[in-house]
Parts: sequence; structure tokens; C-alpha cells
Amino acid sequence: MTLTRKPVAFGDLRGWIETLRKSGELHEVNAEVDIDFEIGTIMRLAQGPGTGPAMLFNNLKGYNKPDSRCRRIFGSSLNNNRRIAMMLGLPPETHPRDLVKLGRTILQDAIAPRIVKDGACKENVIAGKNVDLAELPAPYWNRLDGGRYLITYAGVVTKDPTTNVMNVGVYRGMVTSRNTIPILMWRAQHIGHHVTEWRAKGAKEMPIAVAIGWEPSMGFCAGSPVPKGICEYDVMGAIRGEPVDLVKCETSDLYVPASAEIVIEGMLGLEEDTYQMEGPYAEFTGYFAGDRSPKPTIRVTAITHRNDPIMRGTIEGCMPGSYSENAMISSIFRSSTAWNVLDRAGVPGIVDVWGPPVQAGINLNVAIKQSYRGQAKQVANALWGSSAAHVRYKQVTVVDDDIDIHDYAAIDWAIAYRVNAGENDIVIMPATFGLGLDPSTRKRDRDPTLFGTGKWNRVLIDATINLDYDPDPEFGGTRYPPTVWPSKEDEAAARARWTELGLDKLKRG
Ligand SMILES: Cc1cc2nc3c(=O)[nH]c(=O)nc-3n(C[C@H](O)[C@H](O)[C@H](O)COP(=O)(O)O)c2cc1C
Repeated sequence: MTLTRKPVAFGDLRGWIETLRKSGELHEVNAEVDIDFEIGTIMRLAQGPGTGPAMLFNNLKGYNKPDSRCRRIFGSSLNNNRRIAMMLGLPPETHPRDLVKLGRTILQDAIAPRIVKDGACKENVIAGKNVDLAELPAPYWNRLDGGRYLITYAGVVTKDPTTNVMNVGVYRGMVTSRNTIPILMWRAQHIGHHVTEWRAKGAKEMPIAVAIGWEPSMGFCAGSPVPKGICEYDVMGAIRGEPVDLVKCETSDLYVPASAEIVIEGMLGLEEDTYQMEGPYAEFTGYFAGDRSPKPTIRVTAITHRNDPIMRGTIEGCMPGSYSENAMISSIFRSSTAWNVLDRAGVPGIVDVWGPPVQAGINLNVAIKQSYRGQAKQVANALWGSSAAHVRYKQVTVVDDDIDIHDYAAIDWAIAYRVNAGENDIVIMPATFGLGLDPSTRKRDRDPTLFGTGKWNRVLIDATINLDYDPDPEFGGTRYPPTVWPSKEDEAAARARWTELGLDKLKRG
């Protein structure tokens, strides 16, 4: 199937919310809800396995006075494939397989942003001593969180001091005082590269801006691996089919979407004695990461916001029955990335790639058209040898192209009857780099300060038909017996009588 995108510029967060409302994708909560634990619990329970609605909370305890600075929280909008398709300008019913295919190229397109003089995000400007982050609703999303998280799904903007190219990433941030927010940023992320470059120039602080609440492409691009040197604003422009209007910050020369709901401007401390304690926080694995430690901290210099702004937040951490926005998006785009890795490595016959949302590509399924012995091992080797495998693709299952990898029962059946551990179908690649957040790795082995990375013992499950077996004359020269499924002719003849036999009403078979 060839996908034709009709890019949509929603205008701002409000335009996106309006689109969702009209399409029946939004659930508004008008009853009073507590931002301490209750809102997070409701969102986690309501999101379901990719089936829940986007949610707008209109009545927040402690933030529902007429003069409260920010009175609403919006979230859960991209934890569903229908809404991911809508963001990309595709029909809501687009199959995830097609989203994966589109994801192979979507982050490479660009429409440069447009600089404008003013924007709605400047309707209110609070600077210097007047800044008080407590005026913004930063929920305690989970009981075990280390504090209130204001930055959960925002665009964190920094720039390279030499090239001036900006980067927009999602990095969580916890409020520690009226004007400080330590953030979690891994050194390998693009913001980490900027930190290194500013430090090399002798800077003690680096300008930073946090844009909260805009069109869905902002969180999507900021949370995705847009290649270094390409600014996420360009990719956001390509996704919406129009340039993103940007305004200059009040206290730095960074630029933010002009119609963002809230912008937090500040300086990120680069010296370790300015770090503040941050964490723990619910992680994407569905577990809390025991990572309370001193982190680089934003010293807030200004807050600007629209009139009656809407806070954008997300509930992080994915579990069976409750899929997060991060998990739904990662599932698609980590699959796309894996497919590109396999193509670049020259592995032939790749038919489909899929890492289901519940584990967001930690386990990856690949369907191939086998043409020679050892092809499944080539798949695993290519994936594990790529840097994309650092935090993904721990278990790789390879099946033949008659298996639908979007159907777990089909994969399970292939594993049951096409895997023989005594015939090298289970291969362990021990002690590779890996995700530092995986609790199945001993704590010491995933200490990034000791080893720079986690440690994974990876597994290939080769559930393809073994081409090492001899062709069997009894089965007409194939290596495996025929399945019990009827021939095409017998099936067509039976289907032709389906209605006559009253079987169409059973909705089965
Ligand atoms: C909801 C969400 C939360 C995230 N939290 C963090 C985080 O706290 N720290 C981090 O380094 N990456 C985090 N990520 C992943 C980064 O956003 C992602 O790796 C992105 O590619 C980083 O941008 P960059 O490639 O420009 O560095 C998060 C992603 C999402 C979607």
C-alpha cells in the first residue's frame, strides 16, 4: 500500500485539542481532580492498551480559582495509533505496519521555521524575582516519584554554541524550588553534546528554554532520534506541511513556537556543584528507576505564557493493559529505525519489522523471506552491531514471511514448532552494551558511572523453518510438512457458501 499524507497544521495545542474533540478522540474531565497522585492514577488507568482517549482536565484542585495562572492539564494524546496517524496527516485507521514504513523516512524531511516578531506565548511575561514555579500545576504523577514533575512531554530547546543549530528534546524535569528544575539528560543525547561544547568554551551555564504545549509534532519530534545537526523545528515543519513560527525568548537568543502555551526560560548549570537532586521517576520500562542523584539544573530566568494556558503532561511508564505515549510512539519508530539498520547492512528479504508497544521494541520481531541458511543470524548480528541497539532489540525473534508479526499468537505458534534449541535456533550474545534502566540486569552492571552503559545478554530466537534440514520428498521437496489449512480452491469454495450456511452471522472463522 502506498501512503499519501495530507499534512495538517493544527495551529497550536488548542487546534489539536479541537480536532480531537470533533473526532471523538477527547475525554474532558470537569470534576475537580487532585494533581497529587490522583491525576496520574486516572491517566494510567484510562489509557488502556492503546485504546484510551486523549484527556483534558479542566478543574484542578488548588488551581481552579478564576485568577489561577494555569488551570488545565492535557495529556494522553499520542498513546493511540489513530491519533499518531492523525498527527501525520494519515487516515486514523492506518495500520501500524504502514506507520512503521512511513516512519522510515518521516524524520528526514525538512521545512525551515519562520521567525516572527511576536506570538501568543508572550501574552504574559514573568521575569526575575517574580518567577514562582508553584503557580504552575506540576503533578506528583506517582506516589514513588521524587517530586513534582513539570517537564514530562515538553520541547527542551538548547543550541550548539558554534553552529547555532538548535536542538529540541524531551528530557524530564522536577521542580525543586520556585525557580529551579533539575533535568535528566544522558550525555549521549544531543543536549549532552551541547553541554560538552559549551563547557569546552569555558561557559558555566548554557541557555535553555522549555516549550510546553504546542501541536503534537513537537513532542513527537523532540522525543524521537532526529539526526544530530538537523533541527527538530525543520522536521516539525515537514510533518505539518508549513513552517513553524518561532519567537525569540525574552532572556536568551533561543527560539520557541510562537503559540506555545507556556515557555520556561533559563540557564542550565554546567558545574557539578550547582547540580540538584532529582528522581526517582516512573520509567518507560514500567518500573521505577532507582536514579535519585544530583542532576544539571535549570535556573529559571523567565516564564512566558498564553492567557489561560494549558499544561501539557504525560504519564510515563508502560505496562500490560496501559500503554504510554512514549511506548506507542517508540514502538513504531524503533521498528522503523531497525528496518533502516537492516537495509543499510544489506540484509535481504526483510518483509516486516515490529516491536509491540507494551515493551516498545526491547523485543523485536522480524519477518523475512529466507533465501539462504543463516539469514536470521545475519538479522540479529546487523541489529546488535548498530548503535540503535543501545537501548533496544534485546530479544530478536525472526520468523518466515507467512507469519504475521502483528499477531502474537502467530509468533507463539512459530516459536512452538519452528524453534529447536538443539539446532542453534536460540543464540545468546553475552555481555553487550544495553539499557541502564533494565532491572533484569544486576544494579552494579548497569551503573553508567562505572561502565558508561548498561549490560545486556541478548538472545536471538530463530523461529524460521530450518534450511539446514534436508528437503523431504514425502512433502514434495519442502523441508516442512504442509499445514492443515485447506487449499486455496477448497477455501474459496467453502467461503462461497458461507452466507447460505448462515456462517456469516457468527462473526467467526
Ligand atoms: C515522554 C518522554 C520522556 C523522556 N524522558 C527522557 C529523559 O528524561 N532523559 C533523556 O535523556 N531522554 C528522555 N527521553 C528520550 C529522548 O527524548 C529521546 O531520546 C530524544 O531523541 C532526545 O532528543 P535528541 O535526540 O535531540 O537528544 C524521553 C522521551 C519521551 C517521549
